[in-house]
Amino acid sequence: MFEVSFITLFPEAFPGPLGVSILERARREGIWDWETRDLREHGIGKHRNVDAPPTGGGAGMVIRPDVASEALDSLVITNKHIVYPSPRGVPFTQDMARDWAGSRGLVFLCGRFEGLDQRVIDAHGLEEVSVGDYVLAGGEVAAMAMVEAVVRLLPGVAGNAASLSEESFENGLLEHDQYTLPRQWGPYGTPDVLLSGDHKRIREWRLNSAKALTKERRPDLYAAYSEPHEFQAPETGDEHD
Ligand code: ADE
Repeated sequence: MFEVSFITLFPEAFPGPLGVSILERARREGIWDWETRDLREHGIGKHRNVDAPPTGGGAGMVIRPDVASEALDSLVITNKHIVYPSPRGVPFTQDMARDWAGSRGLVFLCGRFEGLDQRVIDAHGLEEVSVGDYVLAGGEVAAMAMVEAVVRLLPGVAGNAASLSEESFENGLLEHDQYTLPRQWGPYGTPDVLLSGDHKRIREWRLNSAKALTKERRPDLYAAYSEPHEFQAPETGDEHD
């Protein structure tokens, strides 16, 4: 069973979209499960304070390391990734989703406010991960996005392995354009090749569609795709200084 824990000040935000469709079916089948832990329960004093002003001054509030650490210590985390969603983090990718799907589970420490005391990040070896170059109000939506990407890759969750292997990022490209019924929709037709039944030509058309789209929208991905994969930069001798 793949276990996911969300440490949060807003347990009521969960499960949100994680409680519908294939993820909810997989949860009922015992493939994975989720829980929330209320960070407030580890707060200090009568008011259960979880945050304090940034040392050195500045705007906003920072989550205290003692509070966050106690919440983390209350969980069993062997062979799980412990993730702090943050716009400062390394970008979340499909490769990471695949890697995480091979672990025992995930723990998310969802922040609000200006951030989290660096000492708890260091002491617990938290992985600081971003879902994109924009700032959300907190880590909850980011954590849900990452969990949805990971759990759908667990064996038995998404019905069709072929549709997983053809989707965006699996071959380093965005997915090709798709069409379905009706063949003619008002003035809009369907590319003839998709109606031809010639699977070789259809594969070629789809690959070209994927390449054109990736080149236009994601030149960074396209450049990585176009590089010869065996290519190794010659050693300059500087690398190991
Ligand atoms: N928390 C706030 N913004 C975020 C982002 N872009 N990614 C992950 N966590 C966040």
